[in-house]
Amino acid sequence: MAVLVASTREGRVGDEVGRWFVECAAGHGGLALDVLDLATFAIPARYPAEPTAAMAGFAKRIAVAEAYVVVTPEYNRSFPASLKQAIDCAYAEWRAKPVGFVSYGYRAGGRYAVEHLRDVFTELHTATVRDAVCLDLLEHDCGNLGAGPHAEGAGHAVTTLLDELVWWGLALRDGRRARPYCG
Ligand SMILES: Cc1cc2nc3c(=O)[nH]c(=O)nc-3n(C[C@H](O)[C@H](O)[C@H](O)COP(=O)(O)O)c2cc1C
Repeated sequence: MAVLVASTREGRVGDEVGRWFVECAAGHGGLALDVLDLATFAIPARYPAEPTAAMAGFAKRIAVAEAYVVVTPEYNRSFPASLKQAIDCAYAEWRAKPVGFVSYGYRAGGRYAVEHLRDVFTELHTATVRDAVCLDLLEHDCGNLGAGPHAEGAGHAVTTLLDELVWWGLALRDGRRARPYCG
């Protein structure tokens, strides 16, 4: 399972949210985790005529993974441009695999970003799982997500997300093996 950390902003909290989620996912058992922190990929802001090595490297890791979790903030009621630029580096590599979301923002917990991402990932022939982890930054201290009054609820939300993602991951793996995807 690939975990995409979407924010590349200087001073971001996305790295802390990503770290917490990966720790939770490691405890879920049986998942091979690959963290794709977009701040560590030199994906160009302008789309080049030919994919750069960074773009090709990113697409290769998307190809290898059988499920994805996107850890994203909400910027102006959507997701950050850094994430769209990365998503667009791959196409067929995403196909017929499940995608889940961990979002964060104020009050809505990044839900608007998730809803926009569902549209994008439908275009890419993925299955987005219903339940997301949405963290309200007014309630959560990103440096200490494992503690505090809302930690238990967040932990349950992670379990639900991962249970659904594993179910879809196994079902779609079987499906891809049984017959070529039609799309
Ligand atoms: C350009 C920009 C736009 C933002 N727009 C929203 C927004 O529409 N809704 C929201 O809940 N938070 C918004 N925020 C607050 C971010 O969710 C918050 O700063 C969060 O920490 C950003 O994630 P990051 O630190 O990992 O980059 C915005 C922040 C930035 C920098």
